[in-house]
Amino acid sequence: MEVEGIDYEEYFKGFSKLTRKERFTRLIMMGVLKKEDVAAIQKTNCIFENDLAEKFIENSLGYFMLPIGVATNFNINGKDVVIPMAVEETSIIAAASKTARWVRKHGSIKTEMVGNEIIGQMQFSDIKNEETFIDLIEKNKLSLIEKANKKVAFGLVNRGGGVRDIQCRKIVPDSTLEGGDPHSSFVVLHVLMNACDAMGANIVNQVCEFLKTPIFELTNQEASMCILSNLTDTRLTKATIELDGLDEELVEKIEKASYFAERDPYRAATHNKGVMNGVDPIIIATGNDWRAVEAAVHAYAAQSDQYRVVTRWRKVGKNGLRGEFLAPIPVGTVGGVTNLHPYAQTALRMMGIKKADELSQICAAVGLVQNLGALKALTTVGIIEGHMKLHIKNLTLSAGASEEEVPAVQKKLEEILRLTKRISLSNAKDVLSEIRGSNRVRPIENRI
Ligand code: MEV
Repeated sequence: MEVEGIDYEEYFKGFSKLTRKERFTRLIMMGVLKKEDVAAIQKTNCIFENDLAEKFIENSLGYFMLPIGVATNFNINGKDVVIPMAVEETSIIAAASKTARWVRKHGSIKTEMVGNEIIGQMQFSDIKNEETFIDLIEKNKLSLIEKANKKVAFGLVNRGGGVRDIQCRKIVPDSTLEGGDPHSSFVVLHVLMNACDAMGANIVNQVCEFLKTPIFELTNQEASMCILSNLTDTRLTKATIELDGLDEELVEKIEKASYFAERDPYRAATHNKGVMNGVDPIIIATGNDWRAVEAAVHAYAAQSDQYRVVTRWRKVGKNGLRGEFLAPIPVGTVGGVTNLHPYAQTALRMMGIKKADELSQICAAVGLVQNLGALKALTTVGIIEGHMKLHIKNLTLSAGASEEEVPAVQKKLEEILRLTKRISLSNAKDVLSEIRGSNRVRPIENRI
């Protein structure tokens, strides 16, 4: 890209040091943004007193806004809780609230943590004698843990956490990899630690970086890299729903839907997406790292021979149903954006949450309820009825209807949906031009 003789790289030199106004000017000059785009972005720029975007990220232009709403009717572990959800998808909050009411009527939701340690990984490649290396680590494990706790994780130790274990893994070459695998085996150390109420990425990375030197002194081996693992299978979150007094046919249908997803990875992916419809909006509303949670859940789902579901439903007796969610949901209630973002703090306060484990368990419970709502709809009325009905408003606006035109377009689209069981943006556009056309021919007095 070339603008007035300046090439692309030249143009972005020092971009991060510019004021936001200067960034806009450059992007306009490059033709990347138009003046109207800048005006639209600038509308979002006054939402926080101190400009948090500048603090959170680099090259910031403003804010991307998501709607935030609340899911109602949840009772988790015997406690009523209102769930803040930041999400753009129509019908997620409605389905969660409706299903939570149904669950409240027929049973209960219980949650717990299974394990409390996160994992840091240290890779050692080109080790001359792996057995000697592993032996040295095993024999000196306690002193390494003690050093890391004393020098780096002392804050966590004071709060009951800290480094707990160091485990050695041997990772052998995999000849099935594309292009083969030319390297000899690696030794990878797993540094296990309890990060208390932090998500723990920063602290575990610091611990691993710190351990490089004492391990080098001990073994004469340099770590090639270290970073946390997002597959936190040592800190799982479990949610259970038990229901009774249900229609037997419905129970059977939900169980069959569960087996479909348990057997088939094509269905499992969509099933799990529905679970994450309940989880991600809370992760976002509380300022947590949703990429980490997505990575954790899907990696956990893919741990066996094939991609699997993270929830399962079973018939209990004639009219009962039991569902379970089990997967890692790595979140924090301290540190990072969670502390700085005013909405994140509000979201935590709304749920009465102080501890990371509580937040993780609420996410698991809402994910499981969301999944139940989807399966109930899919096995009875189908997804179109609930989802598309609510989606009609989006289609109406996307077609370009004005505030006054919305009710008429919506009404007509609902009619089409009822008759054809289908609805699309082109339906919305057709209806809108029909309405506009008929308005044009109608005499003015009839339109008032
Ligand atoms: C849509 O966002 C989510 C569903 O596809 C989930 C599912 O199929 O279980 C309805």
